[in-house]
Amino acid sequence: AGAILVAPSILAADFAHLGSAVSEAEAAGADWVHVDVFDGSWDRCPNFTIGPPVVSALRRATQLPLDCHLAVQDPGRYVDALVAAGASGITFHWEVFNHHQPQQQGEQTQQRYPHGNGTPNRTLSGSTGCCGEGGGAGGSSVAALAAKIRSAGVRVGVALAPDSDLPDELVAMAQRGELDMVLVMTVDPGFGGQTFQMQVLGKVRQLRASCPRLLIQVDGGVNVRTAVEAVAAGANVLVAGTFLYGHPEGLAAGVAQLRTAAVS
Ligand code: DX5
Ligand code: ZN
Repeated sequence: AGAILVAPSILAADFAHLGSAVSEAEAAGADWVHVDVFDGSWDRCPNFTIGPPVVSALRRATQLPLDCHLAVQDPGRYVDALVAAGASGITFHWEVFNHHQPQQQGEQTQQRYPHGNGTPNRTLSGSTGCCGEGGGAGGSSVAALAAKIRSAGVRVGVALAPDSDLPDELVAMAQRGELDMVLVMTVDPGFGGQTFQMQVLGKVRQLRASCPRLLIQVDGGVNVRTAVEAVAAGANVLVAGTFLYGHPEGLAAGVAQLRTAAVS
């Protein structure tokens, strides 16, 4: 296995002090900063967070790559603005282009919120259980949008929600080298502080077996214990919000602990 990348998620930082949050990540030896770009438009991600102007401000505050995770209905809309703002990578959700089997998402998203920064005291929108179609302005398919992001000169990733199966077409795209990264979400998109969904690691194993060199990112509920499992399954990019920004000994200690976990 190659190097493991650690990406603190600033969703768990104090939004009134994002400059210090990213400086702290850089000083801690983090590899990337993970930026959750949520605009409230996708019913499976009931939160509204950061957009291009803030990414641009972050770009001036750190040298670290800015890894943007777009859980929005129409990700193509933001590609040009995010690239201009200094994003280093753009990851968008498979589900916004592909219908999925409706599950009890409303219930799931309302159950798993502990208290803490970035967690809601109520949901921002009801979930209809339908994903709709992405790709208004920015591309009509996963492949088209991935190509657009690539041609804009940044790393491209596709994210899978916990209840999505690993699509054959996605594996094929990764095998053809059309993607730099697949983000296998280990919590439902929206908020920090949720519990890591261990069953999702089956998809990580499957994907790693097919794509030995792909960046496979896990995001949500990552801590020392779950990082060990994720890396054993084949993940090589660890996003962690609550664990790192809430670490009692500070971010640097948390980053070091994740690196140690990754080689154990
Ligand atoms: C959740 C976000 C994550 C979030 C992870 O939708 O995509 O990046 O910040 O937070 P933790 O590590 O607290 O689960
Ligand atoms: Zn994220």
